[in-house]
Amino acid sequence: KTEPFTLVIFGATGDLSKRKLFPALFMLFKNGLLNSDFTIVGVGRSERTAEKFRMEVRDSINQFARLQVTDESQWNEFASRFFYAAADVNNPVQYQGIKKTVEEREQALGVKGKGNRLFYLAIAPDLFATVSLNLKKSGLTETAGWKRLIIEKPIGHDYSSAKVLNEQIKQSFTEKETYRIDHYLGKEMVQNIEVLRFANSLFEPLWSHHFIESVQITASETVGVEDRANYYDEAGALRDMVQNHILQMLMMVCMEPPSRLKTEAIHDEKVKVLRSLRRYQEDEIGNYVVRGQYVTGVINGKQVPAYRDEKNVNPESRTETFVAARLYVDNLRWAGVPFYIRTGKRMAEKATEIVIQFKEMPKNLYFNKNNDLGPNLLVISIHPMEGMYMTLNAKKPGSVDEITPVAMEFCNNCEEGTPEAYESLLHDAIIGDQTFFTHWEEVSLAWKFIDPIRRTWDQEKAPMEFYESGSWGPQAAHELLAGQGHKWWPIS
Ligand code: BG6
Repeated sequence: KTEPFTLVIFGATGDLSKRKLFPALFMLFKNGLLNSDFTIVGVGRSERTAEKFRMEVRDSINQFARLQVTDESQWNEFASRFFYAAADVNNPVQYQGIKKTVEEREQALGVKGKGNRLFYLAIAPDLFATVSLNLKKSGLTETAGWKRLIIEKPIGHDYSSAKVLNEQIKQSFTEKETYRIDHYLGKEMVQNIEVLRFANSLFEPLWSHHFIESVQITASETVGVEDRANYYDEAGALRDMVQNHILQMLMMVCMEPPSRLKTEAIHDEKVKVLRSLRRYQEDEIGNYVVRGQYVTGVINGKQVPAYRDEKNVNPESRTETFVAARLYVDNLRWAGVPFYIRTGKRMAEKATEIVIQFKEMPKNLYFNKNNDLGPNLLVISIHPMEGMYMTLNAKKPGSVDEITPVAMEFCNNCEEGTPEAYESLLHDAIIGDQTFFTHWEEVSLAWKFIDPIRRTWDQEKAPMEFYESGSWGPQAAHELLAGQGHKWWPIS
């Protein structure tokens, strides 16, 4: 049973709340995972009554949740926990209205002075510091129960800004109370990497440079910049996807087995991966990292505009919408194994996938006779298909010596839908499990890896490659692998 708690959502009328948070809360409730007295207090700039807010919550659930509202009494029970307080978050005085709403509910539930409080900042990141400080000033963080803060990326735009923000947040919330969401860590198949590796005697002995030839991580999207140009044109794909999601997946693939399945032990091992990640000097970045920007092209049969022609994008923008790189984790396990990563907007497909390519058999016997036999691949599909498969070489039925590739498959989301990332992450934050949240050390080391690349690009010391919308990125991203005798495997 979850402990009783109050969740205060800043930005309750915004996109994240509507698309992800309300649907996730509803699914948790429906599945019996929110089984205590809980209260949700939405905070937004404009006034509205609790009734109106509940209607908005209902609409967003019907639009975005995996399941719609069908049972009225269940809905009424859920909706009755929702309250609303209007506040300008820059003004500390206006937090009193939020406090009053929280305290009244706590009193009604018999937990006055000892209520557990969770603050979700679903607002612009430049407000994170102000709000966490004002939460303290207003007394909202004073409770004998627990208090927690949930924030989203981006945490700063480089190491030093992230450090400043972290120091500011630390004035109100300790590291153990700070839950930094990387929604990729909430994805079922990302969480499954750990299980796959450490619960199967089949893989762990092979999981090193002795048997693995290379690893590829792809996170491609077909959408363009959408209506987020103000943020994206400043950020670019390196900050938007690599600093967080891609490096998180890399850590999950590379980490050593933790001593126990405890948050600290897992974070320790993940951090070690980032410490071993080779950092490139500015003059060598061009050899290892490719940046690209989309030009016009065809997606789903429709001509789409070039990045520079998108709304609110600087027509001379040098912002990258694509990154590919060859990375190395310089420790004993991974010595010499290239980790190829790529991510971009307006690519051929929406897919998130990790491919582990095993070393080939010695070139005799079958490989000798038939040179185009492929290596064994272990493919971990994260999106849209959730599952994994292994390619093997087998005898073609009925033939004498023909070999054919076969696949062993497991589908995670074939039978019924699996939980959305936000469902499991919100639940973890409610029960106080920080395992799948980003520790400050991960954030800081990730920035330290990213910053020199960013600087090199900002100083135009490496070329910008342009790629057609609907393609798999610029030619340079293919050459990055070809030079090593490798190629990107087609997305499954
Ligand atoms: C977000 C990025 O973190 O992840 C977006 O800011 C990106 O630019 C999104 O579109 C991709 O997430 P998903 O879950 O759709 O792969």
